[in-house]
Amino acid sequence: MQADNKMVIEFDAVSENESFARAAVASFIAPLDPTIEELTEIKTALSEAVTNSVIHGYEGRAGVIKVGCSYLGGMVEICVEDFGAGIENVEKAKEPLFTSKPEQERSGMGFTVMEIFMDKLTVESVKGEGTKVIMAKQLGR
Ligand SMILES: Nc1ncnc2c1ncn2[C@@H]1O[C@H](COP(=O)(O)OP(=O)(O)OP(=O)(O)O)[C@@H](O)[C@H]1O
Ligand SMILES: [Mg+2]
Repeated sequence: MQADNKMVIEFDAVSENESFARAAVASFIAPLDPTIEELTEIKTALSEAVTNSVIHGYEGRAGVIKVGCSYLGGMVEICVEDFGAGIENVEKAKEPLFTSKPEQERSGMGFTVMEIFMDKLTVESVKGEGTKVIMAKQLGR
């Protein structure tokens, strides 16, 4: 993709790294001067995707998460990828309140939060191979 600037980071799939990913993306897009609200929305959506990779992708097992971020003008694109369990039915997984882990007090709202806070959400997943979540948001609207 054409971009003014882009970066990729890779880290272990542990919950401690959620705040690292948030801080890394926040500082990467700082030159765009996002509003506090835009920044909060992006960080929240990113957290949901990273948490999903830790909890559902790897289910607590060791693994790697790749986060990419790029921007072109005020359009920010964020990609969160894992190489874990994958999702059998993406359409169903994206439905509000759907969760495969109701016993772990999951509310099934992660994808819905990503959809509300970002302008675009694409989920690519292959069962047994992994999941790639691509989100985009136009700043300054
Ligand atoms: N990276 C992933 N790898 C495998 N399965 C996933 C992944 N992300 C999401 N899923 C599946 O999609 C379902 C819905 O995800 P979503 O984030 O909307 O809800 P949740 O994680 O179950 O609950 P919440 O996010 O509210 O805590 C999950 O329950 C899981 O089955
Ligand atoms: Mg979730």
